[in-house]
Formats: sequence, C-alpha cells, structure tokens
Amino acid sequence: MHRLLPTSPGTLDAATPAPPDDTALGDTRPDDTGLDDTALAAHYAYPDGLTAPYVRVNFVTSADGAASMEGRSGGLGSAADRRVFGILRRLADVVLAGAGTVRSENYGGARKPTLGRDTPPPIAVVTGSADLDPAGRLFTETVVPPIILTLGTAPAQRRDALVAAGGDVVVLERLTPDLVLAELARRGLHQVLCEGGPMLFGSLVAADAVDELCLTISPLLAGGTAGRIASGPPGTEPRAMELAGALHEAGTVLLRYRRAAPIG
Ligand SMILES: NC(=O)c1ccc[n+]([C@@H]2O[C@H](COP(=O)([O-])OP(=O)(O)OC[C@H]3O[C@@H](n4cnc5c(N)ncnc54)[C@H](OP(=O)(O)O)[C@@H]3O)[C@@H](O)[C@H]2O)c1
Repeated sequence: MHRLLPTSPGTLDAATPAPPDDTALGDTRPDDTGLDDTALAAHYAYPDGLTAPYVRVNFVTSADGAASMEGRSGGLGSAADRRVFGILRRLADVVLAGAGTVRSENYGGARKPTLGRDTPPPIAVVTGSADLDPAGRLFTETVVPPIILTLGTAPAQRRDALVAAGGDVVVLERLTPDLVLAELARRGLHQVLCEGGPMLFGSLVAADAVDELCLTISPLLAGGTAGRIASGPPGTEPRAMELAGALHEAGTVLLRYRRAAPIG
C-alpha cells in the first residue's frame, strides 16, 4: 500500500496526531513502501481532544458505485480494504451500524482492543424494530455488550429478549442522529466509526452529522441492481467535503474525505 495524499507524512494535518499507543498495534507489517500499520493509524487518526462525537463513516464500493453484491459488501473488498477496516476499528471508541447491515452481514463484536484501551469498541446498532437475533453473533461472539439503540414502539418482548442476551438496550424518543450521537457522547464515546449501511448513512448526511467519509473504491464493475452507499430522504442538501488522504494498493483506492472548512 502506498500513499498518494498527503504526499509525505510530514504534511499530515496537525489535527491528526500519531495514535496514542502505536506499539499496541502488534500486527505492524511494513510493506514494500514502508506504510506499516503505525503509519496507517497515523494517517487515519481522529482529531485530538474531542469533546463531542466525531463521525467517521467507512464504506467500500465498486468502481461503478455498487454498495453491495448479492446483498453483502464482502465481495467488494480486497486485502487493502480489510486492512484499513481493521485499523479504523482499532482507532474507534464505538462502531455504529444500522440493523440492516448487522442482519445482512451477520455482525459479531469487534475483536481487537481500541488503541490505548483494554477492550474492543462496542457495536452500537440503530434499530426501530429491535428485530435482531438474540442468539446471533452480535450477542454470542463479543467481549463487550452491544449497545442497542431502539424505540419504545419496538415490541417489548423483543427488547426484553435482547436484554436477556446481554445487550445494553437503550430506548430513545427518536432514532435521529442528534439523539443517537448524544447517547454515545453521554457514554464518552466520541470517536465514532459508522460502518453503514446506506439508510443510516443517508440519515447522517441529511442531518449534516458526517465529519469524515473513508471510501474504498475497488477495481470492479458490479452492474446489477445494487444501491448506492447512501439512501436518505429526498431533497437533502449536498455537503461539501475535502480530500484529506488517498492510498493505493493493487488497483484499490482508499480515499479519506473530511468536512470542508466553512468559507470565510
Ligand atoms: N459497501 C459497504 O461498505 C456497506 C456497508 C454497510 C452495509 N452495506 C450493505 O447495505 C445493505 C443494507 O442496507 P440498509 O440500508 O438496510 O442498511 P442499514 O442502514 O444498516 O439498515 C437499515 C435499518 O437500520 C435501522 N435504521 C438505520 N438508520 C435508521 C434511522 N435513521 N432511523 C431508524 N432506523 C434506522 C432500521 O432498522 P429496523 O428495520 O430494525 O427498524 C432500518 O431498517 C446490505 O446489503 C449491506 O451489505 C454495504
């Protein structure tokens, strides 16, 4: 993997310091251009001193814009994408996902601890229906309880079953980005990594709650009927982003866009 932008590590944004404990990465593996896991973690470091949620969203897409193949994202990925996916999780306080993604991808818990901590980030799931399998990997293959963000209108029996399965079930008044992120902030979870899917991403875009998009473009034409990476309400105002980073490996391009600074 090599870096296209910034052109040298010295030009990394001042607000993106080295990760807190880079030795903890453990699986550092220099490649032929020297971009090892420590350099990757520095490339993707969250801004320092966050006091409010900073929302990073991570997606992979085919070159023709498909967000899935046969209902899942796995076929779109590559070794480079999987490596960055792992690094982004190691930098996050919490992984936020919509229930559609958790169901279709059969999510389990994150395995490796967040850098500088003893535990992996919890998976926080947004679900209006609480329609999650209490016997699923989300509950059975995790070292930290998943956070289930749901509504009082979800059947009580389902909510109770998720509590019994070990879920940290939180009933919010609405599942709007402001209330979801306020709940994460209340727990001190500021470094948010949203792994999709398109509906959740669309609602974050509509609410202007996205600070960063990490987008992997795979050298594939998927064709078919797959949707885009965002699916939100009509009439959403476009949000200006700036390109903060770009990596390349074997035809896969890994872009990092962040919220553009306001003009003036
Ligand atoms: N290419 C990629 O990187 C990538 C990443 C993630 C997912 N995907 C793909 O995307 C597809 C899933 O798409 P999706 O749009 O269904 O995903 P999603 O956003 O993960 O899930 C939608 C569901 O999540 C809940 N939800 C999400 N946002 C909500 C909101 N703002 N308010 C209330 N509830 C909300 C609802 O759950 P309830 O129905 O339980 O109420 C809704 O039905 C899968 O094929 C997956 O493979 C691709």
